[in-house]
Amino acid sequence: MFRLIYVSEESAPFSVSNLLELLNQCHVNNPRLNVTGMLMYGNGTFLQTIEGEEEVVKALAEKISRDRRHRGFKVVRTETIRERLYPDWSMRFERLTEESLRKVPGLRDFALKKFNRDYLGTHLELVDTLAARPRQGASEPSTSDGDHLQRQLVELRKALDASQQRQEMAALLIESLIESATRGRLDDPQLRLCRSMLTSLRGRSKGAVARA
Ligand SMILES: Cc1cc2nc3c(=O)[nH]c(=O)nc-3n(C[C@H](O)[C@H](O)[C@H](O)COP(=O)(O)O)c2cc1C
Repeated sequence: MFRLIYVSEESAPFSVSNLLELLNQCHVNNPRLNVTGMLMYGNGTFLQTIEGEEEVVKALAEKISRDRRHRGFKVVRTETIRERLYPDWSMRFERLTEESLRKVPGLRDFALKKFNRDYLGTHLELVDTLAARPRQGASEPSTSDGDHLQRQLVELRKALDASQQRQEMAALLIESLIESATRGRLDDPQLRLCRSMLTSLRGRSKGAVARA
C-alpha cells in the first residue's frame, strides 16, 4: 500500500457549496477505488492525504493535479505503508481555523496564515503533525484481557471522531443552505447534493461520510 500527501491552493475562493460538491466526488469515487484519506482546507490551501494501492493512488493524484479548481499542486510526501492512517474514511474532511489549530497539541502558537503551500512544502514536520492527528491514542487494541478498558477507550475515541466528522459535514450543509438563501436561489444540483449528504449523515449510505 501507498500514501501520498500533497499541498495546493484554490484557483478562486471556494464557496461552501463548492466544498460540498468536491467532497461528494470524493465520497462517491474513493470507496470504489478502495482509497481512504484526509482533506484539510484552510487559508485557501488544501492539504490532502491519499492512501490505497500504489497505482490507484498515483493515478488519482495525477487526475486531481489536473483539476482546475486548484493550482500549484506539490507532492510533499510519498511512502510505502503497511497500514492506513485513515482506514475508516473515504475522505475525512477538516476545515482549519485559528480555533481548531489551537486544539492541536504542539500547534497552539501556529497561525493559520502559515497554512499555505510554501510553508507546508518546506515544513514536513508540520505536515506530519497535522496528518498524524487522528491516530493519536488510536493504537490497535491489545488482545489481553487486562486491556479491556484500553479497548473501550479506543472505541470511544473512534465514535467521538465519527461524530465530530458528522458535525463538520452538517455545518457545511447548513452553511451552504444559508449561502443559497442569501442569493435567493437554490439550484437543482445543490438540492441533490443536500439530499445525498443528508442520506449519508443519517448513515443510510455506506462509504459516504464514514467509510463503514
Ligand atoms: C483539492 C481537491 C481534492 C480532490 N480529491 C479527490 C478525491 O479524493 N477523489 C476523487 O475522486 N476526486 C477528487 N477530486 C476531484 C478530481 O479532481 C476530479 O474532478 C474528480 O475525481 C472527477 O470525478 P469523475 O471522474 O467522477 O467526474 C479532488 C479535487 C480537488 C480540487
